[in-house]
Amino acid sequence: MNWEKIIKGIHREVDPILGKGAVASYIPALASANPKSFALVLTTLDGAVYKSGDADTPFSAQSISKLFMLTLALEALGGRLWKRVGREPSGNAFNSISQLEYECGIPRNPFINAGALAVTDAVISSAGDRGALDDMLTLVRTASGSSRVRIDPEVAQSEREWGHRNISLGHFMKSFGVIDNDVDQVLNTYFCQCALEMTATELSRAGLYLANGGQDPINGAKITRPGRAIRINALMMTCGHYDMSGDFAFRVGLPGKSGVGGGILCIIPGIGSLCAWSPPLNEAGNSLAGTRALELFARRTGMNVF
Ligand code: DON
Repeated sequence: MNWEKIIKGIHREVDPILGKGAVASYIPALASANPKSFALVLTTLDGAVYKSGDADTPFSAQSISKLFMLTLALEALGGRLWKRVGREPSGNAFNSISQLEYECGIPRNPFINAGALAVTDAVISSAGDRGALDDMLTLVRTASGSSRVRIDPEVAQSEREWGHRNISLGHFMKSFGVIDNDVDQVLNTYFCQCALEMTATELSRAGLYLANGGQDPINGAKITRPGRAIRINALMMTCGHYDMSGDFAFRVGLPGKSGVGGGILCIIPGIGSLCAWSPPLNEAGNSLAGTRALELFARRTGMNVF
């Protein structure tokens, strides 16, 4: 397969739609993103990298960080994690609160905001306050092979200032006894994890462990067990794009996780990991051009898990 040609060809093809959709505007740090930015990066299990566009420009990973916290929570709790958070698509917006009331404060899945708060709470319990964030950064730096990866303090502060919805979710869950730790501690860790800043090249590389049975194929790090990598991929497929997870599975057919910074990390089991980045979002909060680029990739290459 001529990956280089395919990646560059897709970039050319999505060029006319770059700028369509709406850049996330709930915090100033995201609202100022260039709507025309675009990157598509494929890293294969042998470490080869094929890229096009702004592949080395750092951006806010946002909800893609939920993937790394979930990996840590599964390592810490194993199957006990599923007592605190479900494994079903929510059919609602990523920051919806309504289901929590009639489902006893148990979030539907680890990728909606409420679910991520439950996951972060579990990681804090096993790692201690700063430890949860440090553990996430250690995992991401190991998996991406980049020590540059950081939490953007300006984005973290904005998340805190404009975090009224997440603050409500945290306290609501605490009232059901679903959050063990101090809610402010959990929220603060969550706001910082959302501010994870990475490039498309780093994210693409960081997904390799999920394409390779939980083990980084380049440095050999055993990040999670093979069975857990399979389960995380399954959750990405069913819940990684919120209320458009079905649409993403239909169009792309690969496990993917999106973030409101416009990034999407997509896993090709046994082959590699792909990151698309374009800041303007569709109505569900997923990158519009990024989704289209991944759809074209799946069509051109025949890569899908079905
Ligand atoms: O917590 C929030 O609502 C934001 N930091 C965004 C989360 C996110 O990326 C959802 N994704 N599509």
